Amino acid sequence: MSDIAEIKIDGKVYEFPIITGTEGEKSIDISKLRELTGHITLDLGYKNTGSTKSAITFLDGEKGILKYRGYAIEELAQKSTFLEVAYLLIYGDLPTQEQLDYFTNRITRHTLIHEDMKKFLDGYPSKSHPMAQLSSLVCSLSTFYPESLKANSTKEAMDLTMVKLLSKFPTILAFIYKKSLGHALMYPKTKYDYVTNFLHMIFGRRTEDVEIDPVMVSAMNTLLILHADHEQNCSASTVRMVGSSDCNLYASVSAGIDALWGPLHGGANQAVIEMLELIKEDGGDTEKWINKAKDKNDPFRMMGFGHRVYKNFDPRAKIIKKACDDILDKLGINDPVLEIAKKLEEAALNDPYFVERKLYPNVDFYSGIIYRALGFPTDMFTVLFALGRLPGWIAQWKEMHENKEPIGRPRQVYVGHTNREFVDIKNR
Ligand code: CMC
Repeated sequence: MSDIAEIKIDGKVYEFPIITGTEGEKSIDISKLRELTGHITLDLGYKNTGSTKSAITFLDGEKGILKYRGYAIEELAQKSTFLEVAYLLIYGDLPTQEQLDYFTNRITRHTLIHEDMKKFLDGYPSKSHPMAQLSSLVCSLSTFYPESLKANSTKEAMDLTMVKLLSKFPTILAFIYKKSLGHALMYPKTKYDYVTNFLHMIFGRRTEDVEIDPVMVSAMNTLLILHADHEQNCSASTVRMVGSSDCNLYASVSAGIDALWGPLHGGANQAVIEMLELIKEDGGDTEKWINKAKDKNDPFRMMGFGHRVYKNFDPRAKIIKKACDDILDKLGINDPVLEIAKKLEEAALNDPYFVERKLYPNVDFYSGIIYRALGFPTDMFTVLFALGRLPGWIAQWKEMHENKEPIGRPRQVYVGHTNREFVDIKNR
């Protein structure tokens, strides 16, 4: 196999090295392309462009494989906890018991947020979307911890900022939720593990002790692990891009939250439930909605279907579908939209339109049904995705700094006007 690719322009042949990843992925290193040929590449949506060399997550879209640091997602979802996976993603190896205890203790110690941050919550309209609040509150952390502005100056400073972000994120999220209900805020409790503490702040009440169901803790752990990283997706690329200007971690992750919000990315989990509700209220005729999704003149898309990289199945969706059945069963919940979801999936998987385009249910298709069963309102779904994705964003930001990557700055093919003569406003 050749390790050189040739590009011929105007009869002249230029050679570029072929780089092979540890899982056998091939890429052509065109970093000298413009210098040698005067040409750039054009690749809308970066469908064929590798933006970095990364050792965090591997996924094979054809085979439906997803691994964090070499560990299969199926095994991690079954055998580990969210904080263990966070450690793995950020530091590269599974922690020993001692390392995990140290990491957990540090995170537990930083869970409170500055009391003044609550004033921001008072300022937001009561029905404002949690993702908007989350993004601005996470960015605001940099105003309370100005040392984070130089977060990448030393390893210790970088570490402390990462720990603080992981610690405070669930508190911010829970405060947003309680505020939206007009309920008293629940403060973190150090006696709980990360996920139980989060659920305590969400579902706890000041007036009485609320036992957090271990079924809910386990379901939440699984969902968070499944969302923890997904290599160079839209939000992770955003975090790396913003961070590449040496912007602090809080602001970089805040930008990632915004990227995640869109319905084509993490916002799909909210959009799926809204779609399933719509179909239910419309009488549950799944065939009608499948036909709408296929109609190019109809803007309707089957939310929770399709993926840029997975073209066979999304391994996360497989795990989630099974977890969805188990959790609803254990919690004794019968959600009619689950039946609609299954009917839609079955119809789509047998429909040539979906088969030919390799459109399969993705991670967001069933996750919303679980979040709903756990008691979360629909507009909180995407912030839950953000909580899961947080270790991934941190790991991507850290790797980008450790690799000393240059500032992200794509080029363009300009297609606008060339020289135009200025016309005075009276004569336009
Ligand atoms: N419903 C109907 N048709 C679809 C859908 C869909 N959900 N997704 C793709 N298509 C069609 C699309 O119209 C196109 O058809 P044609 O070739 O005839 O023009 C073809 O399939 C290829 O689609 P694409 O938009 O070029 O694919 P993409 O890789 O650019 O987009 C996607 C991927 C996820 C944005 C898209 O599949 C989509 O919009 N899905 C619904 C939103 C969704 O569920 N997003 C969550 C993604 S997973 C969670 C995450 O990681 O963020």
